[in-house]
Amino acid sequence: MTTEESSDVLVVGSGIGGLAAALGAVRNGSDVTIATKATRPEGASSWWAQGGIAVSRDDPDQFKQDILAASDATADPDAVDVLVENANDAVEDVLLDTLAVEFDESGEGLDFTREAAHSEDRILHVDAATGKHIHVPFLNYLDAHDSVEILDDTAALELIRHEGRVHGAMLESADAVRPHYAGSVILATGGIGELYPRTTNPDNATGDGIAMAALAGADVEDMEYVQFHPTVAVPDEDDDSGVFLVSEAVRGEGALLRNGEGERFMPDYHDDAELAPRDVVARAVKAEREATGDVTLDVSPLEFGADFPGLAQRCTDHDIEYEQGIPVAPAEHFLCGGVTVDDHGRTTLDRLYAVGECSRTGVHGANRLASTSLLEGLVWGLRAGADAAGKSVQPIEAPELLERDPELPARFAGDKMHRLRRVMDAQLGVERDPAELGRAMAMLRRLKGEVDAYVRTRTSRSLYELRNAAVTALLVARHASENDESVGTHNLVDAPEPTAD
Ligand code: SIN
Repeated sequence: MTTEESSDVLVVGSGIGGLAAALGAVRNGSDVTIATKATRPEGASSWWAQGGIAVSRDDPDQFKQDILAASDATADPDAVDVLVENANDAVEDVLLDTLAVEFDESGEGLDFTREAAHSEDRILHVDAATGKHIHVPFLNYLDAHDSVEILDDTAALELIRHEGRVHGAMLESADAVRPHYAGSVILATGGIGELYPRTTNPDNATGDGIAMAALAGADVEDMEYVQFHPTVAVPDEDDDSGVFLVSEAVRGEGALLRNGEGERFMPDYHDDAELAPRDVVARAVKAEREATGDVTLDVSPLEFGADFPGLAQRCTDHDIEYEQGIPVAPAEHFLCGGVTVDDHGRTTLDRLYAVGECSRTGVHGANRLASTSLLEGLVWGLRAGADAAGKSVQPIEAPELLERDPELPARFAGDKMHRLRRVMDAQLGVERDPAELGRAMAMLRRLKGEVDAYVRTRTSRSLYELRNAAVTALLVARHASENDESVGTHNLVDAPEPTAD
């Protein structure tokens, strides 16, 4: 039974993890409500995914070794087993048989490509726009399903919980804030790109699920492992809103990185040069930008316009003459940590699940291997949805949210987010100075206190997003300050020596 106020399973978020969870639940006889802040498909990070989705092909063990190596041996081998052992079946079942995604083909069959730190060609793709070619048919399929209701432009503000069990969430949409009860709640709210000035994420990625889960008492892990993508096009150094991802697949096809003096530099940093793990390339690009000026991606070794028509058009739209090289810089791309979950997406709270980027499965450790995020969302989503199905709905007293007053003082949220991003960029970016992390925490704590004071006076989506961003930023800072091992994306550097004068 699905009514406006309850469903067997409530999924919060509409990326591939959330959609796979919904599919897993309806296949197991449950009715599902998907509540998503997105108003169009572009609102989910999955829509933006370029490179593709890796599969195990005939060698799951080699895939596992590549994931472990990219993570600097910090990924959880048992979690990686779950991923590589289920990869082929999940992709075949859902993407090929159920959704009929038309992956690119070459010669006889599917075209498998390669990206950085993969030791074989195992990535299925559609041009360099794989995300939307999976996400749109997936949304359409579920939209047409009798047991699924999709509420868009609807935000979850708080979990409804009692004594360690979650019973639903407070949902906010244009007309009201109301409790929505569910037998299980599955968080699939994506990443934290909004916490940084430059990101490849859509502009609603404020860490909502992570903050809600943490505030409800769920465990959260590995928050210091924030992955920066090394090749994000920067059309205008003074306008962070115009940046866009240039897929690793472009380097996979032969593009080269050149520094401000026109020299290729990646062979000096790693034996695999441009195809080194992502954290290594991001650090190298940052270092070369600081030492020599603009870094560019030289696409002359390939037929860029023909091989990557979507990206070529994007460059042209932004007045980038890609034949001269694409100016690139690292930008926040993916959070490897998140809400702690087991191999079925179960969090440490009863009836609460998390899937996709907001979850921490252990698959990525300190650094994620390219083209494993859609796969992780798909595999864990199906497992979590199946596990979450069939639990009874128990309406309990909902939290009292204050009279709704969506208007915030002019510039309130914008000013606070600006301050938060400055701290995250300076102290919790590609490099972290251990001596600065305490200061970052103090600044973020102060900011969170100011936001909390407002949360006590009104209920508004932008205020809750701001609170979620502040909670999540503090978690990143706290985990970073507690980890003194420089590994993967958590790159600790020493402060420069003060000069004599
Ligand atoms: C890319 O296309 O470079 C991004 C793929 C990923 O993040 O896995």
